[in-house]
Amino acid sequence: MAGVCVDEGHELLQSLTVTIGATVPTGFEHTAAEEVQEKIGATARVSKDRGRIYFEITTDHLHKVHHLKSVDNLFVVVKHYDNYQFKETKEEALLDLQQLAPVLTWNNALEVWKMNNSLKKKRSRKRGAAAPKAKPSNATDPEKPQAEPDASELKEKPGSSCTEQEPGPEGEQESDIQEAEAKPLKFRVTCNRAGDKHSFTSNDAARDFGGAVQEFFQWKADMTRFDVEVLLNIHNNEVVIGIALTEESLHRRNITHFGPTTLRSTLAYGMLRLCKPQISDIIVDPMCGSGAIPLEGVIEWSNSFFISGDNNDMAISRTVNNINYIIKKKQDGGSTSPGLSIDTAQWDLCHLPLRTSSVDILTTDMPFGKRMGSRKKNWDLYPSCLREMARVCRPGTGRAVLLTQDKKCFTKALSRMGGLWRKSHTVWVNVGGLHAGVFVLRRTAALFGSTPEDVREPHIGCESQEINMEEEKVQSARSE
Ligand SMILES: C[S@@+](CC[C@H](N)C(=O)[O-])C[C@H]1O[C@@H](n2cnc3c(N)ncnc32)[C@H](O)[C@@H]1O
Repeated sequence: MAGVCVDEGHELLQSLTVTIGATVPTGFEHTAAEEVQEKIGATARVSKDRGRIYFEITTDHLHKVHHLKSVDNLFVVVKHYDNYQFKETKEEALLDLQQLAPVLTWNNALEVWKMNNSLKKKRSRKRGAAAPKAKPSNATDPEKPQAEPDASELKEKPGSSCTEQEPGPEGEQESDIQEAEAKPLKFRVTCNRAGDKHSFTSNDAARDFGGAVQEFFQWKADMTRFDVEVLLNIHNNEVVIGIALTEESLHRRNITHFGPTTLRSTLAYGMLRLCKPQISDIIVDPMCGSGAIPLEGVIEWSNSFFISGDNNDMAISRTVNNINYIIKKKQDGGSTSPGLSIDTAQWDLCHLPLRTSSVDILTTDMPFGKRMGSRKKNWDLYPSCLREMARVCRPGTGRAVLLTQDKKCFTKALSRMGGLWRKSHTVWVNVGGLHAGVFVLRRTAALFGSTPEDVREPHIGCESQEINMEEEKVQSARSE
């Protein structure tokens, strides 16, 4: 389908209707679909292959997809097979994939890829920066959708070139399209495969499908400095062929100082959406680590006030550094708005220096007891944490959205707090391969001090959940 639209440069362009695919944190597909509806006005379909959504747009709305905060990676769909019949033998199945490449209708998707490159270039010119570089090698890309059992890319063909593709100095920059037209495009195929009924590996599929793509377009295979990334997603019988629109996952957008368990910004965004922040809400992350949740919050919900705290001084300095980096980025971008509505404090969550009933929302990523703290300590920490959060939270309207993988301990602690917290629902998510729960709680109308749950048992303290130094050295799967 095509129409006519006028872009920012007032050129007449054909507006195409295309399907956009997005990878999202597993478990937050519906949250992402909600965001797509809100920001783009499109109805997203949640894929059978968890962690992906699809929606249609006309290309005059293409720029809007880059404003989505729940998505990790974006791509334009070339073809979607809901029920692809793979042949039984490896040879036959791979031959079919080879024969697929020349019969696919690539034109619209490639047109969108070109438009997207122009958009990216315009944005980077606005920022006064050089255009984005080609994606670095990421054969073990930690940013690919989580828990995908088998991912591979087309192996580089001998003789494929590694010519620089960065633009020249400002003013001399040619458009991507012109560059692309001047010399053969470089490409790679990335295959993500899940399912136990395939006779081939993702490597086999990427290699053979990639070979056919190369032959059809006469493009050059280049694993590291490619212009086009062709995606081949195979999930049981669902096959999606696409072209990537993002060079690296959008989940790292705010963080420059990573901690051992830094949360992905896309997951933080999903948690914040569950909180339904309102104008002038006071929102607290009492165990902020490197500050992924409050930073995401203060950027997206700038009419609320955020307070981030942690008992670990290294975590606090990371949060402060991350906040300062965002402030500097804003200033460098010409923003004249004063700072960010966020404060940071070092505190013990069990004795928050905050007034009773003064907070609207508490949201945090609790120590799972694996990389951070211990399962044993959680039995003390979780009840104390729920009690102190109930004290500072506004009765009746307050809410808490809490992430933990230690579901048993959390559920037990919550069951003892019935007078203070009511569970609304749980969203099950994948955090770096771990099955975790995001618990959405509502503060009951009971005043703190008037229920039996408020009474702190003498032996229950709030032991510091310090990170052991060995753990400090490793970057957690949460951030990777
Ligand atoms: C899972 S991490 C949070 C990671 C964070 N979301 C991020 O993006 O970096 C849990 C945090 O809880 C903090 N913590 C543990 N016990 C605490 C306590 N009693 N008071 C305050 N913070 C605590 C730890 O220092 C750690 O930074």
